[in-house]
Amino acid sequence: MKIHPITDKIFALHADVKSEDLFEGIWPIPYGVSLNSYLVKSEKIALIDLVRDWVGAPGELAGQLASIGVGLDDIDYLILNHLEPDHTGWLSDFRAINPRAEILATQKGIDLVQSFYKLEDGLRPVKTGDRLDLGEGVALDFFEAPNVHWPETMMTWAADGGVLFSCDAFGSYGVLGDRIFDDEFSAEEHAFFESESLRYYANIVSSFGLFVKKAIDKVSALDIKVVAPSHGIVWRTTPGDIITRYARYAGYLEGPREKEIAIVWGSMYGSTEKGLAAVIEGIEEEGLPYSIHRVPNEDVSWVLADAYKSEGILVAMPTYEYKMFPPMAYVLDLFERKHVWYRKALRIGSYGWIGGAKKEYDNKIAPLKWESLESVEWAGAPDEDILELLYERGKELAIAVKNS
Ligand code: FEO
Repeated sequence: MKIHPITDKIFALHADVKSEDLFEGIWPIPYGVSLNSYLVKSEKIALIDLVRDWVGAPGELAGQLASIGVGLDDIDYLILNHLEPDHTGWLSDFRAINPRAEILATQKGIDLVQSFYKLEDGLRPVKTGDRLDLGEGVALDFFEAPNVHWPETMMTWAADGGVLFSCDAFGSYGVLGDRIFDDEFSAEEHAFFESESLRYYANIVSSFGLFVKKAIDKVSALDIKVVAPSHGIVWRTTPGDIITRYARYAGYLEGPREKEIAIVWGSMYGSTEKGLAAVIEGIEEEGLPYSIHRVPNEDVSWVLADAYKSEGILVAMPTYEYKMFPPMAYVLDLFERKHVWYRKALRIGSYGWIGGAKKEYDNKIAPLKWESLESVEWAGAPDEDILELLYERGKELAIAVKNS
């Protein structure tokens, strides 16, 4: 990878990580992820955000700095917008190379520097309104942005150039290659990154939608020319696009959401699957778009992305040993953690000798505040009457979503 100038004093660096590792130990990244850092070079030199020692990322960082004649030991200030180890995991090694750089973060960030990395010296807490002067008229301002993504998070602003270093906010999964700017990608590539930014948001940030809204309000007074996140594309031509997109994602928390249905289903021997086909016929009759994911065959990461944006949810699963089909219990648990709330919902499913999923399901969805249609359960294979009922329920769900 190469270093990319944003202005004559600001440079974007990134490491593309393609790994079988799960992001945060949970989320698959089959298309990889970029770890972005930024260099601000004036009389003093500041590096904004670091990397984890992950698939050669520190070597990429050092090599890209060296390509413009900057050594790691030349850095005067290391600014840590966010302490999650994808951006800080290499901090102890950096400190060993450069013992003199001052490390700036919010007070909560400094606390995490101490607890994660056991560093005590050269730490400077900063807060909203604080400014770091780098000389020659270049300065960096700090904005606390709690819970985007952790409580200690902040953003950094370079008024000279109008560059917002937003860390996780406005980020995406997906490696970049040797292009990083929005104007360097085709419409097709942007569609890919849009899909991966939604999945990233749903997986990583969705629990904090209200904080994302607050952060967007906080930076909206700035004359932003460039949005420079810590993952994904750097937006220098249409920075408003990614901000608007994130505002839409944050809005999904309370609505409006997309008039679509996210179908998540599991089936043991085909009876629930057969019933589901009838519901889908009803949805299609109403002409409503839907996404469909089978669990556990598909990873819940993609289920979350579609569920997060959709007004309607259809859960299809059999009773399993008197309770819910176990993979669905995990899905609903994540729906609660990731705030997939206030949906129009329908549950269907078959059972063998006795139902039992209902009680557990009702308990699981109680905190989600879903508006549920009457569930349909049946013994064994669905007969014609059940299939007709399921078809009608599919239509009802589609109509409820359309009218929402
Ligand atoms: Fe990219 Fe919350 O770390």
